[in-house]
Amino acid sequence: MTEGIRPNVVGRSVERVDVRMKVAGTARYVDDLTLPGMVHVAVVTSDRPHAELRAVNWDGVKNAEGVLAVFTHQDIPGVNQIGCVLEDQPFLAIDKVRFVGDRIALVAANTAQQARHAASLAEIDYVELPGVFEATQSMNESSPSIHSGGNLVSHLKVRHGGGKGAIENSAVVVEGRFRVNYQEHAYLEPQGVMAAPSGDGLHIQGSMQAPFYVLSSVSRVLGMPHHRIRVEQTVTGGAFGGKEDYPSEVAACAALVAWHLGRPAKLVYTRPEDMQISTKRHRMSMRYRVGASSDGALNALDVTLHVDAGGYAGLSTVVAERANTTAGGPYRFPNAHVDTWVVYTNNLFGGAYRGFGNPQVTFAIETMMDRLAEALKMDPVELRRKNLLTVGDLSITGQPIPPSAPSKEILDRLLELSGYRTIRQEAEEFNRGSRWKRRGVGLALSMYGCCLHAGGQRYEGSGALVQVRGDGTVEVSIGGTELGQGAFTMAAQIASEVLGAPYKSVRVLPTDTSRVQDSGPTVASRTTVMSGNAVRAAATRLRIRFLAVAADILGTSANEIQIAEGVYRSEGGDLPFEELCAEASHRNVDLGASGWYAPPPKPFDKETGQGTAYSVYAFTGHVAEVEVDAMSGLTKVRRLFAAHDVGKAINPAMLEAQAQGGMVQGMGWALTEDLKVHEGRCLNPGFSDYLIPGALDTPLMEVVFVEDPYPDGPYGAKGVGEPTLISVPTAVALAVGHACERQAEALPVTAETVLRWLYDRKEDSGQ
Ligand code: MOS
Repeated sequence: MTEGIRPNVVGRSVERVDVRMKVAGTARYVDDLTLPGMVHVAVVTSDRPHAELRAVNWDGVKNAEGVLAVFTHQDIPGVNQIGCVLEDQPFLAIDKVRFVGDRIALVAANTAQQARHAASLAEIDYVELPGVFEATQSMNESSPSIHSGGNLVSHLKVRHGGGKGAIENSAVVVEGRFRVNYQEHAYLEPQGVMAAPSGDGLHIQGSMQAPFYVLSSVSRVLGMPHHRIRVEQTVTGGAFGGKEDYPSEVAACAALVAWHLGRPAKLVYTRPEDMQISTKRHRMSMRYRVGASSDGALNALDVTLHVDAGGYAGLSTVVAERANTTAGGPYRFPNAHVDTWVVYTNNLFGGAYRGFGNPQVTFAIETMMDRLAEALKMDPVELRRKNLLTVGDLSITGQPIPPSAPSKEILDRLLELSGYRTIRQEAEEFNRGSRWKRRGVGLALSMYGCCLHAGGQRYEGSGALVQVRGDGTVEVSIGGTELGQGAFTMAAQIASEVLGAPYKSVRVLPTDTSRVQDSGPTVASRTTVMSGNAVRAAATRLRIRFLAVAADILGTSANEIQIAEGVYRSEGGDLPFEELCAEASHRNVDLGASGWYAPPPKPFDKETGQGTAYSVYAFTGHVAEVEVDAMSGLTKVRRLFAAHDVGKAINPAMLEAQAQGGMVQGMGWALTEDLKVHEGRCLNPGFSDYLIPGALDTPLMEVVFVEDPYPDGPYGAKGVGEPTLISVPTAVALAVGHACERQAEALPVTAETVLRWLYDRKEDSGQ
């Protein structure tokens, strides 16, 4: 069987399958959906960070206009548990609340406004408890216990080589303490789910990344078997990790109400509610020591991380695992010792966010690399190059880095694309002649495992269903979801490529748990590899059947046939795909096939943190050029450059757009996205006070891709969704530092920090 005529659909910047409905405004998001008899749900939440619940007077709620019912933990038919990894989180509070926003009850009413107003009328009798608001103090003897087992969620470790002691044998040792703040996902579409009775079960539709997680959670809360629950993703207006674990909670709310009332029920959060209650990128405190020989070879790494989980574990242990195993960045450390402490506090709820624990440690290790270069009087870029991990080198988990790993090429292409050395020099020259404007240039690299961590590998397997119709059209269903990243377009391209179907005749159906096997969550930059390979496997089974029919029609053998887009071609002539489908259907050929992909097992020892942490890594680099206004302290990012290791660009234009989105989102966290949290309460829960970059803040962006095929990826592709962000905040922070001749130890680097640097030189540690 020949591979077909190239170039075909994979590798071409074809139009996105979902672009027209999104641009034209015809896409229907969950809040656009209405069903006859639909009720609206609002959540009664705690406004205390830590308290016992003594009693609640529901009279006001129940008597409010439009209210149909109130549901508490006593109304749960299944298990009152919503924790996604640990069973530490009641779905509805029983006798205690652990963060501002903890769920106490659900109110169903005729309109959303009535439901929300009624929810605010609950008279809750709290006994306030002292709270814990600082992760590094959470485990102190004097700190109140948030859960009965204490405040330690988990302690993750890396013990590699000689470990901690090895640092003393280093010629040069540098130290640093870093702290990063929360980041809000700021998806434009807030959290929302609708649940409707359907036959003897439930049909759930909503904005989500992980329909199979939603399925399990609803099943547990309602005590309803999986085959009576159908979960369908609606068009999703941004997710970025924020719709991995969290929609299970929203779905369980809607489902419980729908189950009790026998009517469709919808819950869509308001923006302030969403910002206070749903998950955030984790706040982390990081202590680093790095030792090297005098020629700049890295010798040892000693790291202590404190991960602030909030009141419940959620996905914090999994996020922490990524921080733990990638704490050394993309560098070779023969000795490494990492302690990662995941602790409960009464702060906001930490969860998945693009990069998943990696952007935090990237900020620390990359800043340490600049610091070490200074101590060694070495060029920081050369120091990085000398120590970069590449194929066969051991990571700090003792894993030989698998192919592909073009880390050095990434660095070279980044330097070339950005003109790094020239623009850095130009910035320094500019600053010599400028009083009120200062320029700076920063560079940061990262490495990201493009799949689930070893600990979550049981969720890795992914399915797809490809069905060809007699009229020559193709329906593709994947277990992965479309979050704006382009997963459906990727799936359509691969199906088209393998089948020889015209790209325009392929339709990707909304992801639906009733159509595809449990494929785990759409996270970890794993969807191109997992769902892509599953589509490829399904389509390949059909291709073999089509080739047999085509060979018969064309009077040739199957291996004489070449497949191009829309045509099966032999010396004897061309057979259009549409005709082939009609004939195959006529002959009763099976035109449907499912596909499955799971990567090889990843052995990993949790006690030592040694083993195969991830199947493959993506290496990335960013350069930022900034201009700081010394009067206002405000930073303008002038240019951003990205070099991405993608294996194979399935759709270059889409990839570039994704790279740009990641850069803008990363830049926001570096500079202006400063979530203010006081005693567990978010003080700026809206976009007027929490400043995400707007179109006018968007810098010039340039992106370059390195295509070094990943042997297990579809057409050599690997994931890129999260790497587009990971090293951006650090590149920007280092650039601001360069402009101000300082080094940031906290993110974001706000205008206040810059002004303090420039005018209040004594207050060094005040950031
Ligand atoms: Mo992602 S942060 O792995 O949903």
